[in-house]
This record gives sequence, structure tokens and C-alpha cells, in this order.
Amino acid sequence: MHKVALSFSDGRTHFIEVAANETVLDAALRQGITIPVDCREGVCATCKGTCQSGNYDLEYVDEDALSEAELERGGVLTCQMRVASDCAVKFDFDSTLCTSAGPEEIEAIIKDVEIVSESAAIVHIDAGSRAGQLSFLPGQYAHVQVPGTDEWRSYSFACMPNDANRLQFLIRLLPQGVMSDYLRDRAKPGDRMRLKAPLGAFYLHKITRPLILVAGGTGLAAFLGMLDEMAANPARCTEPVTLFYGVTQVVDLCEMARIQGYAEKLPNFSYHSIVMRDAERWKGPVGVVTDLFEDHHFNDGEVDAYLCGPPPMVDAVKGWLDQRQMDNSVVHYEKFSAS
Ligand SMILES: Cc1cc2nc3c(=O)[nH]c(=O)nc-3n(C[C@H](O)[C@H](O)[C@H](O)COP(=O)(O)OP(=O)(O)OC[C@H]3O[C@@H](n4cnc5c(N)ncnc54)[C@H](O)[C@@H]3O)c2cc1C
Ligand code: FES
Repeated sequence: MHKVALSFSDGRTHFIEVAANETVLDAALRQGITIPVDCREGVCATCKGTCQSGNYDLEYVDEDALSEAELERGGVLTCQMRVASDCAVKFDFDSTLCTSAGPEEIEAIIKDVEIVSESAAIVHIDAGSRAGQLSFLPGQYAHVQVPGTDEWRSYSFACMPNDANRLQFLIRLLPQGVMSDYLRDRAKPGDRMRLKAPLGAFYLHKITRPLILVAGGTGLAAFLGMLDEMAANPARCTEPVTLFYGVTQVVDLCEMARIQGYAEKLPNFSYHSIVMRDAERWKGPVGVVTDLFEDHHFNDGEVDAYLCGPPPMVDAVKGWLDQRQMDNSVVHYEKFSAS
């Protein structure tokens, strides 16, 4: 049996005993600490932390879950971590996330499938049958069952919690895909949709310094929720907040009026968009999202960065920050891996 210290971003530390035959995640659950999980297979990175001391093995780590550089810096997936000595593991989320009852299953009704670009839809759902407000932190996600199938997919909430439990998801419509095909071909208001939520450890932490929000494609979803919340509580948002939003083609851009609305409500908010493929009617910058970054956005490295979207975009932005050795920056991210 080894002792493992689990420390959280709110400064709390819990000590657990971990037996030779169990993962750190299972040991924590056994001792009442519900580290956020999803796949339990080393793929989703929901349970990730950083091991700051001690020896350990990781059974399986998907390359999209943790990069080589993260592994070298002690990145661990607690669902895959077996310890060979006492260890100290740090998480970049608050300990309060580990004391909730965990995700619940909810039945909701589709109110509307709003096509918001050539490649994305906002699904508006009504989960009002649930008694009381569904609690989640903007940035967290839900497992959503594709109606009429046994398939489940993960989607970030594109809204903030509300009393009526009117919820939104911003969903990319792939040329072929179980959820994409359903939304394009069969979805209609009144369809029933099952959800499991809340999931994940990506959320807006207390704002104490400038924020950099980087969205790739429908990765914008998580920031719509966070920005809705900031716009509802502008006093919370005293630091500069800059959103960088990159898409493949100009026809993929969506929710621009909503984003402009945040700029009108939040004096410290600004945003920049970029498209990868040039088009005649696009007068803005062309390239990848890191092409938008300028030194002055980064406050000499004293920033909190939030990244959300496809794994290659998240890795590219993390690589960009690493290269500039912004050691004082804190990076939170959610990768939209195939779910
Ligand atoms: C934590 C988390 C949160 C997510 N949040 C969102 C969100 O808010 N909005 C959103 O649009 N997506 C999100 N995703 C991705 C989403 O869960 C699905 O993977 C995606 O919508 C594809 O579902 P599908 O059923 O249409 O396609 P599938 O039937 O799953 O896949 C069809 C084909 O497309 C490939 N594929 C699957 N996903 C992708 C992808 N993202 N890019 C390129 N090819 C892909 C598959 O490998 C397969 O070949 C999230 C993923 C995770 C892990
Ligand atoms: S729960 Fe998915 S990687 Fe651990």
C-alpha cells in the first residue's frame, strides 16, 4: 500500500491509500473522492493530473490524451496510473468537483435544430422535466444519446445553467456520422434525447488575470457557455478576455452576432477570427489560430489560457505556448476527440 497526495487548484489536498492492484482513480473512488472520469480507458484525458513526485506506471495512454511533452513533464491519467512508491499528484481543477454526486441521466426534448453555419447546428433542448436546475459549469460536457440508436456522443454545453433547463449544444455536422446524420436527416422538434451530465473538468476558474480563449471550430461551444456566464455577471470579468476563433472555411463561422453581443456587454472582451481557406467575401486574416497571436495578448506570460476544439489545434496552441516558455501561464484544455 502506498500513500498518494491528491492536490487541487483550490489549495486542498486529500491523502489516499493505493494498493498494488488498483489504479489511483479506483483508490480515490473507494475513499470517496470522485475524480472526474469518462472513458476509463486512457483516451479522453478527463481524469488527467500531473505527478510531481514518486514512481508510477501508466497502462495505456492514447496519443490524443497526453502528448510526449506532457508525459515527460509528469502528465498522468489516473484511470491508468498504478503507483510503485508514495506519490503526489496535482490536478488543475478544484476539489469541489470531486465531491459532487457525479453525472445523472436526464430525459430531454429537442425544441429546435438551428443550422448556424454550413457545418454546424445548435441543438436547443428542453430538460424542464427535471425538478430543479441542472448544475454544471460552463465548459463541462454531457453524454448525449443519438435518438433511436444505442450510440452516445460527448458535447460541451453551449449555454450556462438556467432555471428552465433550456440547454444548447453546438454540434459539428460531419459529412457522415451517427449524430451528424441524425441531425441533418431525421431530427425534429419533440424528439426525445437522453443525456448524462455533468462530465469533465474543463471550466472557467476564478478570473485573476487576463484570459486567452482559443476555439477551433465547434470548440466555440464551451466558450459560449463561459461567455454567457461572464456577460450575466460582468463584475466577475475585470481582466481582459480575448477570444481567438479559428475555422476551416468562412462558411464554418457561426454565432458571430452572439460573440459581438459579448463585446457590447463586456468592456474588457475582444475577439479575433481566422479562416484556414481564403474566400472572396472574407476580408479577415487567413491561416491557423496561432497566426493571430501577438506578444501583447500574453501579458508577459501572466495569462490563463483555455483551449477547446480538435486535438491537433489544441496541441498546436500548447506547442506555441511551450516554445515561448510561458512558464507562468496556466493552460486548461478540452480536446474534442472522436467520442
Ligand atoms: C469531451 C468532448 C466534448 C466534445 N464536445 C463537442 C462539441 O461541443 N461539439 C462538437 O461538434 N463535437 C464535440 N465533440 C466531438 C463529438 O463527441 C463527436 O465525436 C462528433 O460530433 C462526431 O459524432 P458523429 O456521431 O457525428 O460521428 P461518428 O459516427 O462518431 O464518426 C464518423 C466518422 O467521423 C470521424 N470523426 C469523429 N469525430 C470527429 C471529429 N471531431 N473530427 C473529425 N472526424 C471525426 C470518426 O472517426 C468516423 O470516421 C466532443 C468530444 C469530446 C471527447
Ligand atoms: S477517464 Fe478517460 S482517460 Fe481516464
